[in-house]
Amino acid sequence: MNINIFSDEMRRNPFPVYEQIRGSSPVLHIPPPFDAWPVFDYETVKRVMGDHDAFSSAVPAPRNWFLFMDPPNHTKLRALISRAFTPGSIAGLEPGIRKLSCQLLNQRIESGKMDLVADYSVPLPMMVIAGMIGIPTADWPRFNHWSNVVLKLSYSRSGGPEAAQALADFSAVTMEMNDYLTDMLSLWCSEPKDDLLTRLMQAEVDGQRLTQEEILGFFQLLILGGQETTTNLINNAILCLLENPGQLQKLKSTPSLLPSAIEEVLRFRSPFLWMMRTPRRDVELGGQTIPAGKLVLAMVASANRDSRQFANADQFDITRQPNPHLSFGHGIHFCIGAALARMEARIALSDLLGRLEGLRLATNEPWTPRKALHVHGPANLPIQFDPAGCMK
Ligand code: HEM
Repeated sequence: MNINIFSDEMRRNPFPVYEQIRGSSPVLHIPPPFDAWPVFDYETVKRVMGDHDAFSSAVPAPRNWFLFMDPPNHTKLRALISRAFTPGSIAGLEPGIRKLSCQLLNQRIESGKMDLVADYSVPLPMMVIAGMIGIPTADWPRFNHWSNVVLKLSYSRSGGPEAAQALADFSAVTMEMNDYLTDMLSLWCSEPKDDLLTRLMQAEVDGQRLTQEEILGFFQLLILGGQETTTNLINNAILCLLENPGQLQKLKSTPSLLPSAIEEVLRFRSPFLWMMRTPRRDVELGGQTIPAGKLVLAMVASANRDSRQFANADQFDITRQPNPHLSFGHGIHFCIGAALARMEARIALSDLLGRLEGLRLATNEPWTPRKALHVHGPANLPIQFDPAGCMK
């Protein structure tokens, strides 16, 4: 089958093509230079993500990010960072996130319009991560610049001059972040605080402290893992609800459906289109042999629409139960920030739907996908609402 899974049209609405592929051969080979093996059906995607003996997470990516490590290094570093993601630590962030959400909306509410992406769903997760790490608010503009550069790294898979520039910028920013971290570490040593940096500095694994390189890797991974994804979850939720007015009405009349509505958005428009793995040895999948060392793409967004797993898979149904979508992954790398992402989405949706009366899309033009090839969601989402009806 000759398809371009990276085209704008495919990334805006890949689902009909995914369905066609699942119906014929659920495993494809994209020839070089990309040379990857995407797999599309629920069972195979789940197996590729969960079978860590057969599939390694060590793919071409920064070496100090534990997302791309295998046991035992992954186990050690994940155990450490998990301490910052306990239910208690996440719940403790809620009042701060509510305040940030409220401030962002206050800036736009009088005007009756905004670009949901630039004005709300990009800055909110950025500020949450910066606050969680312990970056002082005065340094947030710098942090914003770093996170833009780290996020641009994902364009490098498309190749070309833009990719080369993204790599050069990433090296420069890594050095700048490292210098900043050196200063912060010496300051924090004398005045420990209640934040992630302090906890990481004090943490010991097998009697050893984390190196500065490991701490830097954590921060960059949190930027990559925690921002773009949450941005897309919020945007995709608004898209799904505005495209399905009956479901929006149902949610407004039964607000207790909010958690299950968020799960359905995650299933229906997964923020990540795919996850990467490499087989440690030749592996047979869907009747094809994938050679050791090749790139396998577990197409999560396709698995979530597999009708062998989900009844009426192409219907957006906020009451769907059970909803075993794979959008947060499966197995030992299961998203460590899932509870935080769910909480941010809950806060965002209750604010946006509760405060913006008559919320609607400001244009009927098809939306442009975000630049990173592995994510699904709009680059801009102009919305309108009735200022008179808005609660302040
Ligand atoms: C809607 C939002 C999010 C989605 C859809 C998402 C999705 C995922 C997925 C699919 C994985 C597994 C990757 C793999 O198996 O290769 C993952 C891992 C991870 N996520 Fe998330 N994520 C989200 C939000 C967050 C947030 C808010 C944070 C942190 C603040 C975060 C931090 C991480 C980290 C550190 C990992 C690596 C875990 C490991 O390798 O053990 N994510 N995420």
